Amino acid sequence: DLYNFRFIRPDTKVYGIIGKPVGHSKSPLLFNASFKSVGLNAVYLHFLVDDVEKFFNTYSSIDLASGCSCTIPHKEVALKCMDEINPIAKKIGAINNIVRRPDGTLIAFNTDYIGAISAIEDGLRELNGAIPAGASPLSGKLFVVLGAGGAGKSLAYGAAQMGARVVVANRTFERAKELAEKVGGQAMTLAEAEHFHPEDGMVLANTTSVGMKPDTGETPLAKHALKHYCLVFDAIYTPKDTRLLQEAKESGAIIVYGTEMLIRQGFEQYKNFTGLPAPEQMFRQLMEKHA
Ligand code: ATR
Repeated sequence: DLYNFRFIRPDTKVYGIIGKPVGHSKSPLLFNASFKSVGLNAVYLHFLVDDVEKFFNTYSSIDLASGCSCTIPHKEVALKCMDEINPIAKKIGAINNIVRRPDGTLIAFNTDYIGAISAIEDGLRELNGAIPAGASPLSGKLFVVLGAGGAGKSLAYGAAQMGARVVVANRTFERAKELAEKVGGQAMTLAEAEHFHPEDGMVLANTTSVGMKPDTGETPLAKHALKHYCLVFDAIYTPKDTRLLQEAKESGAIIVYGTEMLIRQGFEQYKNFTGLPAPEQMFRQLMEKHA
């Protein structure tokens, strides 16, 4: 019961996820259940898309089309098919959420970085208690991003936007340098990050793929370095409990799971699509049930 076609009418809003492959995506399940729970006349489908430009040319002319999510390998290519792009998404160079306005124009967002940053902010609030309304608990924090790929960019731009002092640490120094310059931060290698602790209470975000294969015992930052961090986030979500997060917990840090980024980026997409707050509890339950 992934799609409920019995209720599709000429005025039903059609959403979907474009990707290649795309069949494995659980987004249709999450969005369709959410739409149904609040009685929205909308459906969310899988769109297997090869030629992104051709797809959007057609898509922007279909009145039923209301918005779509965008996954691998289209997050960057889709940028050039948009009429308007959220400024941070433009800087990151990747989009994952597209809304079709009634006049047929397409506006794009990147909700990945919002998902990660909001989860980290909530973790810091848990630690520090209330802070002035409107201020980010990341403001002024030393924020170390491990990795300089797509996810690294999202975290670095997101943290910089919240007023954090950003450090990019990457295996390949040149890539760290390039990203650090763009966000007004500092660059170093992963090896240097092991001995980098100008102060305590720093924030760490791993966006490298190190830790995805638990049997290798690999971790992106040695345990002795973790005691200088008050919060550690890992973008890896399979496995959920990476060695990095386990050791961070043992070192006394607050930990933020990669699954939080995944769930929260979905909330943001739902908000952009419908203008309504996401049914968060239902989203969480479905994610858990179908993990
Ligand atoms: P994503 O879009 O998920 O960020 P990516 O763009 O391929 O993926 O980036 C992968 C990141 O993981 C890079 O920062 C990469 O470091 P390099 O720039 O040096 O390639 C990092 N990475 C991957 N495997 C690694 C390993 N074995 N050790 C350290 N870093 C690694």
